[in-house]
Amino acid sequence: MAGFKTLDDIGAVSGKRVLVRVDLNVPVADGKVTDATRIERIAPTIAELSKKGAKVILLAHFGRPKDGPSAEFSLEPIARATAEVLGRPVGFAADCVGDKAAEAVAAMKDGDVLLFENTRFYKAEEKNDPAFTEKLAANGDIYVNDAFSAAHRAHASTEGLARYLPAYAGRTMQAELDALEKGLGNPVRPVVAIVGGAKVSTKIDLLMNLVKKVDALVIGGGMANTFLAARGTDVGKSLCEHDLAGTAKQIMIEAAEAGCAIILPADGVVAKEFKAGAPSETVAIEAVPADGMILDVGAKTVQSVNDWIDRAATLVWNGPLGAFEIEPFDRATVAAAKHAAARTKAGKLVSVAGGGDTVAALNHAGVADDFTYVSTAGGAFLEWMEGKPLPGVEVLKR
Ligand code: 3PG
Ligand code: MG
Repeated sequence: MAGFKTLDDIGAVSGKRVLVRVDLNVPVADGKVTDATRIERIAPTIAELSKKGAKVILLAHFGRPKDGPSAEFSLEPIARATAEVLGRPVGFAADCVGDKAAEAVAAMKDGDVLLFENTRFYKAEEKNDPAFTEKLAANGDIYVNDAFSAAHRAHASTEGLARYLPAYAGRTMQAELDALEKGLGNPVRPVVAIVGGAKVSTKIDLLMNLVKKVDALVIGGGMANTFLAARGTDVGKSLCEHDLAGTAKQIMIEAAEAGCAIILPADGVVAKEFKAGAPSETVAIEAVPADGMILDVGAKTVQSVNDWIDRAATLVWNGPLGAFEIEPFDRATVAAAKHAAARTKAGKLVSVAGGGDTVAALNHAGVADDFTYVSTAGGAFLEWMEGKPLPGVEVLKR
């Protein structure tokens, strides 16, 4: 892979201590991991290093602990879940630096896998403090970063370590960077982006960047209402950031200047309440009743989105088109996702999707496996779409 050192460049690792930054910030409910995708994604790197005889030491954070160590944010249960998912023993050290860490590493045999306790139990981690980074580095000979989804953080374990040890991108990081390059870095045109979700306010930078890079931008979800209102369409009681009308207009102006088509909903599925199964009707976007809420885009809009997908060689998708978490307002998102998946399977489309809700929406549609690449990154995916350099990625560049 151009530009980055990967495991192909790592050389002999037998007997070496390899510190692998992974993202084990997985959703947990009642002590159980509810979505193991992030754990599954780190399997190839761990298997490869272990098979080559490395001592594989996993570094990760969990949650956002504020006051040092606590059972709530301990990675110990995640070590057990990781062992289950990987189908191999995964040891656990109750600290990521100091004596406990060193002793656990000293007891490792070649090929063993060990997880260190939450790096965020130290404030110095988030400060990217050199003295702390040196302590982390003391337990490794080589550093591998396989956590794209944490690469927007310039922390000791995501950025600092690459300055202290020979550093390489893991297989998942590599796959992610490859996919993102195909999506926006150096894509086959035309490129179409679908951006949805509730609010414009969280995606201003992203939209400003996209209109300069893509040929067409489909705007759906609650954020479309802000654009509709800005151009004078009455959106009734729909979620809408009226104070962002100026920003929405500016984005539309920038799009026009850059030659990027903006596709807003032509019709909407409206209901009087935000509730599963609420009675709803599809209306032209100019005919939203004063007491109605747009909860999904309508069939006409889906047809137009699918037509744009047909024209596209590359699709970048972030955010659902409607309130997909409650039925029947998932229909447009499911229909467009299925269409994109079919085009991808037919070899006509490169499809890259990411961002928290997006993965859930594609899983709900049952098509996540049929996209070219689905990123498990939330914030990091958004920052990448904003065109911002990610510290954890930048530091791995040759
Ligand atoms: C994530 O879950 O998006 C990453 O693990 C980063 O976590 P953070 O947003 O707490 O830094
Ligand atoms: Mg996050």
